[in-house]
Amino acid sequence: MREEGLYHHEPVLLEEVLYWLRVERDKIYVDGTLGLGGHTKAILERGAPTTKVYAFEWNEDTLQLARERLKDYGDRIKIIPKNFIYIKAEMEKEGILVDGVLLDLGLSSFLLEGSGRGFSFQKDEPLDMRMSLELELTAGHILNTFSEEELRRILTNGEVPKAKALAQFLVKKRKRSPFKTTFDLVSAIKEFYRPPKKKEKDLLALVFQALRIEVNKELENLKRALKEIPDILKPCGRFVVITFHSLEDRLVKRAFKEDPRLLVLTKKPIVPSLEEVRRNPRARSAKMRVAERREFNGR
Ligand SMILES: C[S@@+](CC[C@H](N)C(=O)[O-])C[C@H]1O[C@@H](n2cnc3c(N)ncnc32)[C@H](O)[C@@H]1O
Repeated sequence: MREEGLYHHEPVLLEEVLYWLRVERDKIYVDGTLGLGGHTKAILERGAPTTKVYAFEWNEDTLQLARERLKDYGDRIKIIPKNFIYIKAEMEKEGILVDGVLLDLGLSSFLLEGSGRGFSFQKDEPLDMRMSLELELTAGHILNTFSEEELRRILTNGEVPKAKALAQFLVKKRKRSPFKTTFDLVSAIKEFYRPPKKKEKDLLALVFQALRIEVNKELENLKRALKEIPDILKPCGRFVVITFHSLEDRLVKRAFKEDPRLLVLTKKPIVPSLEEVRRNPRARSAKMRVAERREFNGR
């Protein structure tokens, strides 16, 4: 891990998040994906001097950087070093309902550029991809040991083109020489898609994303959070979720719509302005959906 100053993660849709969470003084929020604390810091500033944030983060190095960055806020911030699937359990332990919950899914600039865990196809690093060391399986383990059918399932779920043939190809490749680093995987993907029908970068991004989703159980975690979080919202409390790909966005859209505890406030997702995308290209695929906890179930 390098020093904090080297990582700048610009919070996505920041003004929109503050607006939809209706941030002001005397409120309590949960940030389920603290990262380097961009959104949390802004909530604490806008809600000064009384608003409190309970923040979840499971990446060990990120936690250290965030703690340092947020140290001036004292007991207005409580950092909980856990998976966000434990939000409900932790808030029940605290004995509180909250005014809003934010999930900003996807990768932080730190994970991508500074974690050394192989999230980027532009850097040659070990094929790890675990956001948290509490996770058991690395991307390398999955690539080198999972059956062809399992690899096919992972690639198909990730909407990777020609998933079946790619799984077969990867299994053949690994028999000759196991995958060790990201660049081993990059060259296999390039070889398989030659000549590429889609942009090569998009293909690489899709395969890396499919593996990352599997390693980190991202869809399972999101499903559980979507099911449990409405229970810890105060009446009229807000649930704000920012996703970066359609697999997650679909889950959020459906869960919000089908949940009798929630009223959907964004029929269409909120997306960043052109100006934001120009300033922060990482924001380009962001979609934000917001739901509100009904006063009473089903009303
Ligand atoms: C896109 S970043 C959040 C950036 C943050 N909103 C900011 O403005 O700095 C997502 C963060 O959530 C963390 N994360 C992802 N899944 C998680 C989970 N299931 N539990 C806890 N943290 C998670 C990642 O480690 C990463 O640091």
